[in-house]
Amino acid sequence: MIILGIESSCDETAAAIVKDGKEVISSVVASSQKEHVKTQGIIPEVAARRQVEHVIPVIKEAIGKLPPEHIDAIAVTAGPGLIGSLLVGTETAKTLSFVWRKPIIPVNHLVGHVYANWIDQDTPPEFPAVAFVVSGGHTDLIYMKGHGKIVKIGSTRDDAAGEAFDKTARLLGLGYPGGPAISRAAEVNKNKLSKLFPRPMADSGDLDLSFSGLKTAVLKHLRTNANPDTNLLAAEIQEAIVDTLVSKSLSAVKQYKPKSFILAGGVSANRLLRDRVQTTLDTYTKVFLPEPTYTTDNAVMIAAAANFNYLPVPWGKITANPSLSIEEKF
Ligand code: KG4
Ligand code: ZN
Repeated sequence: MIILGIESSCDETAAAIVKDGKEVISSVVASSQKEHVKTQGIIPEVAARRQVEHVIPVIKEAIGKLPPEHIDAIAVTAGPGLIGSLLVGTETAKTLSFVWRKPIIPVNHLVGHVYANWIDQDTPPEFPAVAFVVSGGHTDLIYMKGHGKIVKIGSTRDDAAGEAFDKTARLLGLGYPGGPAISRAAEVNKNKLSKLFPRPMADSGDLDLSFSGLKTAVLKHLRTNANPDTNLLAAEIQEAIVDTLVSKSLSAVKQYKPKSFILAGGVSANRLLRDRVQTTLDTYTKVFLPEPTYTTDNAVMIAAAANFNYLPVPWGKITANPSLSIEEKF
């Protein structure tokens, strides 16, 4: 089956053509990220305006010379995300579905991230699986009995892990997006680490997480140290976040004994996190890490998710839902 995927939940406008949920025929991503560097964070109105400008050219480029008759269905991100951005994708997809008379499948953006792990995989993840979606807005641990059978088993109680990277990078003056900036600064640090920042909820006994205390701890440190070592602080921040994510991943794997552990979302681009997850969980289960290109927002993962969760909906019923939870369809 050939699916046209459309993703517009935040500051990326993406379209892709994917065959059978794993073979990428085309993938196009336009981003307004550079504009958000000035404001060190996304202004929703600015992101939505760029979505409007990008959406048609991006879809046109992804389709290329493929005649619309060859497209079997359209998949579109229905949520969660920024309402103005989401609406651009959903309304465009609904229009195409009506005009081309194609089935349309709404996709949960967070579930989409998980399916980045099916791309180009001859041996895809096996069920039951535990998946960890670690992105800019969400940090959710889920148990997957099969495609579409999702139960949330843990989540952040406050900030998402990506948000913690972004907010602490801002405090250090490292710019936006914070994850890659912190990671780059941490790489040049030569000093020994000393667990300078807390690992909240490490002993909570459940699979929940918390990251808002990290931001406060970094702020306090900066207020009381006249000459902070930015690279050392970046390394300490990265270590605290990665430590927390890996220890909760290990607890989830020990508790649920899945056949696969799947890492997903923008933060899964982090090299230290990838290495630690691989080495820590390898003896317990098969570990899946998405290709770096498909860690951050893209439309390939949306088309892949729709392929394995093929539930078309009449186009008139599709609505954008900014606060969709990982367990909800749309
Ligand atoms: O999944 P994503 O592209 O968007 C959302 O759905 O939120 O994730 C974006 C997040 C940002 O917070 C960004 O700082 C983080 O992913 N990120 C990283 C890295 N690359 C992106 N965090 C840590 N290390 C990275 N290399
Ligand atoms: Zn995302």
